[in-house]
Amino acid sequence: MTPPPMGLIIELTHRCPLQCAYCSNPLKLDPPSSELATDEWLRVLDEAAALGVLQVHFSGGEPMARRDLEQLVAHANAAGLYTNIITSGVLLDAERMRALITAGVDHVQLSFQDSEALRADVAGGYRGGHAKKLLAAALIRNSGLPLTSNFVVHRQNIDRVEEMIALGEALGSERMEIAHVQYYGWALRNRNALLPTIDQLESTTAIVEAARARLHGRIAIDYVVPDYYAARPKACMGGWGQRFINISPSGKALPCHAAETIPDMEFPSVREWSLFDLWHDAEAFARFRGTDWMPAPCQGCDRREIDWGGCRCQALALAGNAAATDPACTRAPMHHVMATAISEAGETDFTIPRRLARAPA
Ligand code: SF4
Ligand code: FES
Repeated sequence: MTPPPMGLIIELTHRCPLQCAYCSNPLKLDPPSSELATDEWLRVLDEAAALGVLQVHFSGGEPMARRDLEQLVAHANAAGLYTNIITSGVLLDAERMRALITAGVDHVQLSFQDSEALRADVAGGYRGGHAKKLLAAALIRNSGLPLTSNFVVHRQNIDRVEEMIALGEALGSERMEIAHVQYYGWALRNRNALLPTIDQLESTTAIVEAARARLHGRIAIDYVVPDYYAARPKACMGGWGQRFINISPSGKALPCHAAETIPDMEFPSVREWSLFDLWHDAEAFARFRGTDWMPAPCQGCDRREIDWGGCRCQALALAGNAAATDPACTRAPMHHVMATAISEAGETDFTIPRRLARAPA
């Protein structure tokens, strides 16, 4: 029997006050009217605990746009689940911070668009957003919770990574993530304006390595680089159907947040399936689980149980086939598309922001 997933990622809503051009949400967002109701989420949390899930990540969109977030956190906490909130912080005030602490939240991950207020506000499409994030960081730290500061980097802000690390340090972060944009959803659409040059990437790597050495034992720094310059792909989601269940705002259970881009798959709804049944029996979770589905060269590769063949959604987006070897791998027949993407990067610096009202049908 498949071991239980370690984590449940709950996309409570696709609503968000920010409109980042690299948002990983799908181009077609779930409308607010389709969102699961509070009692449906409460049942899902109970099922997650019964299934053996250890951690629940409340995400979005902006999870704080849901007024029942505190109730859901309290319920997850009472069910013995570790609770993490992934937030932009712009809706966090003292009252909600107190309510979340009372609910028993374990961890908050706060995202930043830049180190400079004006540039950050432009990137997020939200005036005053950066100042609110600074206040949110103080609220989180003063409440006694550990703070993870997440800096999303791309071609247009990557030259300020040193300043971002200094900001994370000044805010009292226990952990920082310097995470390059991953090219799904809106970021894939805006890739030419966001993919950095190899020179930018190499100088960022040197800065991060130096900061890691300097901050060793005080602040941990996670560093995520773009697949486009990698020799081997990442083990996306720790392997399809192996570590996580991602639930969309309308209740579709997905092996990853971008899985709905794969056209010939049907994803089970938590309105009709229990988490136990969909984890063990739904075809969508079994399709790319393990190694049996793999094509050559993955099938005979010594890394097939390390990276699990890479990312299915990236294979679809770049090779046109979700069952292909991830083009990020130098052994993949379609690896050349990475070089093409790199050569096209920088042709524009214009980005289309994520906008609910303008999402294509
Ligand atoms: Fe991973 Fe497949 Fe590349 Fe081997 S050939 S490294 S399994 S993606
Ligand atoms: Fe879907 Fe990687 S994002 S498998």
